[in-house]
Amino acid sequence: MKKEYLFIIIIVVSLVLAGCLDSPKTGTIPSLYETYAGYFDIGAAVGVGHLGTVHDIFKKHFNRFTAENDMKAGPIHPAKETYCFDNGDAIANFARENGKKLNGHTLVWHSQQPYWLFHDEGGNAVSETELRSRLYDHITTVVGHYKDIIDNWDVVNEAISDSPGKTYRDGKEGSEWYGIFGDEEYIKLAFQYAAEADPDALLFYNDYNAVAPSKVAKIKKMVQWLQSEKVKIDGIGLQGHWNLEWPSLTDIKRAIDEYSSLGLKVKISELDISIYNDYAGGSFQPEAEKRYTKEIEYKQAERYRGLFELFRAKKDVIVHVTFWGVSDDATWLDYFPAGQRNNHPLLFDDNHQPKKALKAIVNF
Ligand code: GLA
Repeated sequence: MKKEYLFIIIIVVSLVLAGCLDSPKTGTIPSLYETYAGYFDIGAAVGVGHLGTVHDIFKKHFNRFTAENDMKAGPIHPAKETYCFDNGDAIANFARENGKKLNGHTLVWHSQQPYWLFHDEGGNAVSETELRSRLYDHITTVVGHYKDIIDNWDVVNEAISDSPGKTYRDGKEGSEWYGIFGDEEYIKLAFQYAAEADPDALLFYNDYNAVAPSKVAKIKKMVQWLQSEKVKIDGIGLQGHWNLEWPSLTDIKRAIDEYSSLGLKVKISELDISIYNDYAGGSFQPEAEKRYTKEIEYKQAERYRGLFELFRAKKDVIVHVTFWGVSDDATWLDYFPAGQRNNHPLLFDDNHQPKKALKAIVNF
């Protein structure tokens, strides 16, 4: 072999060993979840369609999953007597076969619920008694089905109102649960039924913006009500759909401390860091699409670094951190909240290559 070739081979091998060159599949970047073994679990949301394409990354870097949509009431319970477990089972089987854990998401929500759930055959709203019985059947069947593999459930998602002066999302804000019950009683029943269906699962309330002081106060009020009624609630899921500037680490830390003061665990349940800040001026003003420059990637990596420093410091309270997706080619933020606009919120890029953000959180 020519001397020059030998020299090049030596340089490349040294760079790989030093972690400067990498490939997600064979890569020298250490496993994310193994790096965090002494802190908390690391998860990612996945849809059945995407699972096949990011299979190796999943195996290496994550030790728990959330079904992105497949376990929501709409897809999993499309008609009163019909449960459709195929997609959820595909994700659950992948977890079983690969020794991973699963988060249950979600039993009760105001969105992605099937029409039949709230209506009779004539299209009229069902009675509270009927809805109570449907709630019981739904929770008992779905939680029972995944009892061996799901160790925690988002029992209720986004039931708190964003309106000042109102604690709970009501019928006017899209909650047919609240609309038919006439109050928040359905939340208590959902937690009770979930606890009966699987006494070992951790039960969470999950919400967006759950670190804003005004929302923290409302969530605490709900938790205190449930606790006073002796209803089992184990923790709060902070969705974590955040951006490069917002929310502040101070708000996040304060929220974690507030929930912990009620004896609750916290999980970061849907983490992604948008490169846009559409509410910077206080109201929704969508930014125009921008190029994902090296500077933005660097800023995002530093944001992830700061968040994970905080999470590690709170490891006694935080049970897991789950990303809302794996790679930038499959993120809901390409379509929300500003129509179609490329976003780059995750740890792997459009080509499934590791980003600076991944490196920033495994190197500490
Ligand atoms: C909320 C829900 C998730 C998902 C995201 C958007 O955060 O909890 O299930 O639908 O919105 O993708």
